Amino acid sequence: MNFSDTANILALTPYTSPSKGKIFYDHVLKYKPKKCLELGFAHGVATNYIAAALQELNTGSITAVDLIKSKYEKPNIEELLEKTKLNKYVLIKREVQSYNWFLNKEIENNSDSSYNCKPIYDLIFIDGPKDWTIDGFAFFLSDKLLKINGWIVFDDYMWSDYEKIDQKVPDYNPNKFDYDQITKPNIKEVFHKLVMQHPNYSNFKITDDTLAWAQKIDGNQKKILSFESKASFKYKMIHTLKKILGRKY
Ligand SMILES: C[S@@+](CC[C@H](N)C(=O)[O-])C[C@H]1O[C@@H](n2cnc3c(N)ncnc32)[C@H](O)[C@@H]1O
Repeated sequence: MNFSDTANILALTPYTSPSKGKIFYDHVLKYKPKKCLELGFAHGVATNYIAAALQELNTGSITAVDLIKSKYEKPNIEELLEKTKLNKYVLIKREVQSYNWFLNKEIENNSDSSYNCKPIYDLIFIDGPKDWTIDGFAFFLSDKLLKINGWIVFDDYMWSDYEKIDQKVPDYNPNKFDYDQITKPNIKEVFHKLVMQHPNYSNFKITDDTLAWAQKIDGNQKKILSFESKASFKYKMIHTLKKILGRKY
């Protein structure tokens, strides 16, 4: 499915904007991942952009994981997939408590009797609670399942829980974490301290201040420690407009 037809269907649904969707769409066309995984799909917007690019390539699949409560999203992922007609590229999984339990089952299903885990994914997108503990562990588990040369990408590189205090989100518990953890973007902590310091990751890049990418390499390969941080003029304009309009996606 071409990008503009996909964006016409998805543009008004949170949380992946067409500009972010285009980054995923182009990544899939460029690297041709056969097996993709999205952790935290919400309404399924990014899943649909990835599935649309897979359909263009006429191969591949994406497994999308979220919590049971995502069934009650309006629209939910099934409804969006009915509109895009991309169902055949997507496998939906819902967990009671966390995608980390899904990852446990995937590791079990892909491990031999000597506990060697065979990596199966070419692209893993982590977009859940943006929490050091949950997402740091999700990276540890995902790494076992990501193939060499595959990519891992995190959303919300610069997002911190403090935004919830700032936006006066009802029911937010300000004692959930230390104040220091509330104010620091937890995904940035995971990315710099776990991903960038891991011997098997390289080619780090941050796109539009929000997506943090790293490629898995063979540990003997030369690691590229520098990282690229790109925010396009278009992104900066959209970001400013979203702030003015108070739109979160
Ligand atoms: C920002 S939304 C994801 C947006 C989505 N990637 C997109 O393309 O629009 C975050 C999602 O993560 C899910 N989530 C949060 N914590 C989770 C966990 N521990 N396990 C599974 N899903 C989780 C939430 O239910 C929510 O739907």
